[in-house]
Amino acid sequence: MKKFTFPLLLFVGSLLLYSFNYQNGNNEWKAPETVNKVKNPVEVNAKNIALGKKIYNKMCWSCHGSNGAGDGPAGASLNPKPADLSSTAFQQQTDGAVFWKINTGRGTMASFENSLSEDQRWAVINYLRTLKK
Ligand code: HEC
Repeated sequence: MKKFTFPLLLFVGSLLLYSFNYQNGNNEWKAPETVNKVKNPVEVNAKNIALGKKIYNKMCWSCHGSNGAGDGPAGASLNPKPADLSSTAFQQQTDGAVFWKINTGRGTMASFENSLSEDQRWAVINYLRTLKK
């Protein structure tokens, strides 16, 4: 029995450490600093916002919800939950950081690099700015 004690302690210890990190937000998704300098080349105007809205309502709404609050029907059972795109914490990020996340993806949040053109991805970001609470 004794020879299991040490591996068992290690196992329980790493589980505790994992949940501790998780609860303390170390799971936060952070874009690299350098992408903050990347500028959005798509002009913020009614036409581009309407384009972004159309894409959002087709490809993002199901998880992020119609107002961006992260409460879409397809997101309910996901862990982590789809991000609240209307929150201050989200809206404080630069367009460059948001663009990087849409390109990179993480977990159930897919990369849209191949399914949307570059201009479409920037136009979606212009629309996301209108979701601010
Ligand atoms: C299948 C569900 C799903 C779809 C569809 C989806 N997302 Fe997400 N999204 C997520 C989840 C889950 C996260 C949180 C990922 C994480 O933190 O690991 C996320 C995170 C994000 C983030 C990062 C938020 C932050 O806090 O920094 C952005 C930006 C984003 N999504 C934009 C979009 C856009 C734009 C679309 C449509 C083109 C889209 N998502 C479609 C599930 C989805």
